[in-house]
Amino acid sequence: MASGRARGAPVIGAAARAAAARVVGAVVEHGQSLDAALAPVLGGISADDAPLCKELSYGTLRYEPRLAWFADRLLRQPLPGIARDVHALLLVGLYQLDLLGTPPHVAVSTTVEACRRLRQDWACALVNGTLRNFERNQTSLRTEAEASPVARFAHPQWMIEAARKDFPGNWQALLAANNARPPMTLRVNLQSTSRELYLRRLAAAGIPAAATVHSRCGVTLAAPLAVSSLPGFEDGQVSVQDEAAQLAAPLLDPLPGQRVLDACAAPGGKTAHLLEAFPRVGELLAVDADERRLVRLRSTLARLSLGARVRTGSALEPQSWWDGRVFERILLDAPCSATGVIRRHPDIKALRRPSDIQTLADMQRRALEALWPLLARGGKLLYSTCSVFPEENHLTVQEFLAATPDATEAGIAADWGRAAPAGRQVLPGEDNMDGFFYALLVKH
Ligand SMILES: C[S@@+](CC[C@H](N)C(=O)[O-])C[C@H]1O[C@@H](n2cnc3c(N)ncnc32)[C@H](O)[C@@H]1O
Repeated sequence: MASGRARGAPVIGAAARAAAARVVGAVVEHGQSLDAALAPVLGGISADDAPLCKELSYGTLRYEPRLAWFADRLLRQPLPGIARDVHALLLVGLYQLDLLGTPPHVAVSTTVEACRRLRQDWACALVNGTLRNFERNQTSLRTEAEASPVARFAHPQWMIEAARKDFPGNWQALLAANNARPPMTLRVNLQSTSRELYLRRLAAAGIPAAATVHSRCGVTLAAPLAVSSLPGFEDGQVSVQDEAAQLAAPLLDPLPGQRVLDACAAPGGKTAHLLEAFPRVGELLAVDADERRLVRLRSTLARLSLGARVRTGSALEPQSWWDGRVFERILLDAPCSATGVIRRHPDIKALRRPSDIQTLADMQRRALEALWPLLARGGKLLYSTCSVFPEENHLTVQEFLAATPDATEAGIAADWGRAAPAGRQVLPGEDNMDGFFYALLVKH
C-alpha cells in the first residue's frame, strides 16, 4: 500500500495500470491489435487515467520481448495459463522500473494495487516480490540482458535474424528506430495554404515545427499533440501523414484528365494527397476491401472537401467492381506486415509470425497480377508497402516483372532511401521517416 494513504482510498494510477495490463494481455495473449484492444479499455476508465494507460500500453508492447525475458528470469516457475493477466501486469510493472523511470516505490505499490483491481488478489505477493526482486538485482539483470539479442534489442529473435540478414550494415539502427517514439508529421494542403504560411501559423500558436526534407508539403512537429489543437485541421489545411507516405503522390504523378485507381485506399491518406496535389486529375476511384476503413476515407475526403468515387471491393477480384475502362495511373499500396511502422504500431512485434511474410508476399503478387490488366498501355503502377522485408518488396516486384512481358521498371531517382534490386527502400528512422518501399512499373 502507498505510504500515507487512508485505508480504502483509491491508489492514484492503479486503474491506469490495471487497464494497461488488460490491453497488453489482449494483444500478447489473444492476438488483438493494439488499437482494437485499447478502444474498449479507454472507454471504461476516467479521462485522467487515459494518458497513463496509453503510455504504459504502448511502452510495454514496444519492449515486450525484453520485459518478458526479465519476467522469465525472475519467476521461479512459469505462471499457470489462467494467470496471463498477471503476467501482462508484471510486464507493465517491469516497464515502469526498467525504462520509464517511475520511482520504484510508486511503480511497485500501484502495480500491486492494480493486481487487486484485476481481481487477482492471490497474486499480489508474487507481483510485489517479483518487482522488488528486479529492483534489487537490476544492475546484474541488465548486464545479463546485454548478452541476449532478444532482451537487448527488444525484438523477437526471427525479426532480429531477418534484419541482420537483409540489412547487414544497418540492422542495429533499424531495430533501434523501431523502439523509438515516432514524430508527428503533417501534410499541408497546398490547395489551401503554403507550407511557409502554415509553419508561421504554427509558430504563432506556440507549436514548434520544421519543414520535412523530402516532401515539399510536410511539417514535423517537435512534440505530438491532439489534432484538435492544430490550427486549420477542421478546415482541411493539414492532415496527419508520415513523410515517407507523402512520397507516393509525386511518384505516381498523374497528368490532368488521367484516370487514377487507388486499389487499397483506406483510410485514405494517399488518396487525399493525390487529389490535393493533382486537382486536375480525371476520375479517381478509391477501392478497399474493408468497408469500415472506407468510412474513415469518406470522412477524410469530406473534411478536405475532396471528391472521389469510392467502392468496396478486393484488389484480387477487380471483375466484381471494374467497369472495363482502363486507368493511366494505379496505386497499389498493398496490405503488408507493417514492419516499417513498428515504431507507430509496437503490437506488430507480438502479432506477426515468420510464416505471415510469405503469405503476404503471395497475396501482394496476386494483387499485382489482378490489377495489371486495368492499366492503360503507357500507364504507370506504383507499388508500395510499409514493410522492410525483401519478400514483400523487391522480390515480389522482380517475380512479377519476370512473369509479365509488358511490364518494366521505371527507376526512381531520389535522394531518400536506398536503391533495392528493384524499387527503393526507406528504412525506419532514416531522415525521421517510417520504413517504406516504392517501385514504379510501366506498361508497354
Ligand atoms: C497499407 S493500407 C492502405 C493505406 C492507404 N493507402 C492510405 O494511404 O491511407 C492497406 C489497405 O488494404 C486493404 N486491403 C486488404 N486486403 C485488400 C484487398 N484484397 N483488396 C483491397 N484492399 C485490401 C486494407 O483494408 C487496408 O486498408
